[in-house]
Amino acid sequence: MSDPATPRKSLYIETVGCQMNVLDSELIVAQLRRDGYELTDDLHQADAILYNTCSVRQHAEDKIYSALGRIKHLKQRRPDVQIGVIGCMAQKDQKQILHRAPHVDLVVGPGQIGRVSELLQTAQLEQKPQMAVSLARNAGKTLDVLDTFPTYDPDRAPEPTPQGATPHQAFVRIQMGCDKFCTYCIVPSVRGPEQGRPPELIVEEARRLLAQGVKEITLLGQTVNSYTYRHGDGRTTRLSDLLALLHDLDGLLRLKFVTNFPLDMTDDLLQAVRDLRRVSRYLHVPAQSGCDEVLRRMKRLYTVAQYDEMMGRIRETVPDCAVSSDFIVGFCGETEASFQKSMELVERSRFKNSFIFKYSPRAGTKADDRFADDVPEEVKKRRNLELLALQNAISVEDNRPLIGQTVEVLVEGPSKAAGKRSEDDPSGIGVTQMTGRTSCDRIVVFTGNLRQAGHLLPVVVDQVSAVTLIGRVVTSESESVPVAEAALS
Ligand code: SAH
Ligand code: SF4
Ligand code: F3S
Repeated sequence: MSDPATPRKSLYIETVGCQMNVLDSELIVAQLRRDGYELTDDLHQADAILYNTCSVRQHAEDKIYSALGRIKHLKQRRPDVQIGVIGCMAQKDQKQILHRAPHVDLVVGPGQIGRVSELLQTAQLEQKPQMAVSLARNAGKTLDVLDTFPTYDPDRAPEPTPQGATPHQAFVRIQMGCDKFCTYCIVPSVRGPEQGRPPELIVEEARRLLAQGVKEITLLGQTVNSYTYRHGDGRTTRLSDLLALLHDLDGLLRLKFVTNFPLDMTDDLLQAVRDLRRVSRYLHVPAQSGCDEVLRRMKRLYTVAQYDEMMGRIRETVPDCAVSSDFIVGFCGETEASFQKSMELVERSRFKNSFIFKYSPRAGTKADDRFADDVPEEVKKRRNLELLALQNAISVEDNRPLIGQTVEVLVEGPSKAAGKRSEDDPSGIGVTQMTGRTSCDRIVVFTGNLRQAGHLLPVVVDQVSAVTLIGRVVTSESESVPVAEAALS
């Protein structure tokens, strides 16, 4: 807690990238609150401006460099404003950031975020930029590299603040880094070696978050289902064990985990999803491509047949489970025939949704070293749109049978579209458009009130689109009884 005498300072923070970054930003905010900072969404009022960055695609980096360009004048007018670049791009570009944007005061990689507060102070005292990054993966023995990626999350345990979009949702990191080294991907070099956090710390953190009113916990890892923790006595804890440990904690309504790696989708995990009813019926398992040749060049370590076999086991073990995927289109050497194989994989897998990305070469990755980025931009664009159109058609088709059915929704809060509260609100509790998700991770929008946030409610589906179900809360006994949604599709 900050001393009441500490002058209040304001912090503006912008976050791009994946859930890991969202969590890191929350941890940084909690850290700086202890120094007396308060959050502001007005960049021009801020004493510290931080960008938590992503390097997964060029576009994510361009966004930050142009934001840095736009605030240059701010620093000229108010030299006391401190500007920080945190996260994956800080680790990747390091000193280059200071060359391109000399008005930056702070460059901190994702493995060093525990030091943001200290470094802001040093930068001010010494009036010169500070940098804290981790060792490159080939710069020393694995243990030395690991030392530069200390786990920061346990610090959160004494006074955790819920992460995620609403106060009822929290992210909990169970794994750091990645050891898969897919050839296109920058993540293993910026996030460091894979490390599983000890289960006791994870359970403790979850317990504290639940005591604060969190209802839904999402476990985070780049390949979350590869999670294994070896205890000193030789025992191991796998993700399935961890789910069982967390499932019965007081107050927990939903438990999710992202992102899964296809080869590590073991039967014990699928059985845990089947048997633990608070675990969401939802698995995000990126395929990336439907063509063996492309998968081999991506070094994804599995074949299309193995991915199909995994989908078969998911459908057999947890028939009511929704599956979503990621695809990269226009990867080096992707021919029209290989792209068609991705179309076919989407067609037969019936994903709930897919995130589709155009290949973006990343300096320092194997793909960038070895293969030419030989698919023209227009072709990447066209393939992206084609795959998305196919996926959307499938999503609508599979959502349609839900019309007239009742789904169980964990209410998150007012929908983005919900403007001001409705005028005809006799209750005075804020009738508005609310949003939440089903156990299968389908987004549901309905008319409700703010007090419903954090509760499970039965909602009858009236209309569907590819990404949203529109419904109304079941109010009388006469309406249908909740049914498992995906069993219908
Ligand atoms: N760890 C997760 C996600 C990693 S990044 C996983 O392995 O699935 C999220 C997604 O970004 C990836 O699934 C991939 O589809 C995409 N991606 C990663 N590197 C990319 C690149 N160089 N160009 C385009 N998309 C990329
Ligand atoms: Fe990147 Fe592959 Fe690791 Fe995912 S599994 S973070 S795509 S290297
Ligand atoms: Fe981006 Fe880093 Fe996440 S590169 S996708 S923010 S791990």
